Amino acid sequence: MAQSEKKRQAALAALEFIEPGCRLGVGTGSTVNCLIEELSQVRDKIEVLVASSRGTRNRLADAGFEIAQLTTVGDLDLYIDGADEANKQFHLIKGGGGALTREKICAAASRRFVCIIDDSKWVGVLGKFPLPVEVIPMAQAHVARQFVKARGQPILRKDFVTDNGNSIIDVHGLTIANPVEMEQRFNQIAGVVSVGIFAQRPADVILMAGDSGVTRLER
Ligand code: A5P
Repeated sequence: MAQSEKKRQAALAALEFIEPGCRLGVGTGSTVNCLIEELSQVRDKIEVLVASSRGTRNRLADAGFEIAQLTTVGDLDLYIDGADEANKQFHLIKGGGGALTREKICAAASRRFVCIIDDSKWVGVLGKFPLPVEVIPMAQAHVARQFVKARGQPILRKDFVTDNGNSIIDVHGLTIANPVEMEQRFNQIAGVVSVGIFAQRPADVILMAGDSGVTRLER
C-alpha cells in the first residue's frame, strides 16, 4: 500500500474518536491534511475547532469550518495530529512541518491525544529523524552550541520562519534514549521555545496504518 493511502487510512480511523459536542484540536502535516479532507463527515459532532498552525487554519477555513482561538475555548476534548517518529512508550518526535510549539500547546490542553501515523514512523529509539527545535532568532548560535555539547549536529532550517516568528534548528545524530529527561533538559536551554520531543505529554492513542490495516494502540 502506498504511504499516502496509509496516511488516509490512519486519518479515517481517527474519525470515530470524535464524539458529539467535541471540542477538537487539529494538528499539522500531510496526514492531518487527509483528516481535514474527511472531516465534513463528522461536522455535526464538532462543537469547536482549534488549529495548531496557520496552514491548518487555512485548510479548515477552505473546507467551510469556523476556527476558534484556544485561549477563548479552554481545554479540548480531543487533539488529533501526526508525528515524525513514535515509539512504544507513545513518545513522539514532531515538528517536521515546523508547527511543534502550537502542536505541543494543543496536546497539553487536550484530554485525549490521538496520533495518526503510517508504519514508517514507528521506531525503537527516537532520534533518527532530526529533532526540530524552535528557537528565538537571537539565540540561534547559543542554542546550536548547546546541542553540539549534547553530541548533536544542529542545522538551521533555511528560509523558514515559524508561525510565532522564530527559527527552527534541526538536530541530527541524537539518540533519544530517555525522551522525558531529554525533553526537560533541552527545554531549559535559554532561547529554546520548544523541542520536538513529545514525551512529558505523550500520545494517548496511536493509530498506525500498515499494509494489513490500521493498528490501534492505547496507553
Ligand atoms: C508538523 O510540525 C509536524 O509535527 C507533523 O505533525 C509531523 O511532521 C507529521 O507530518 P506528516 O503527517 O506530514 O508526516
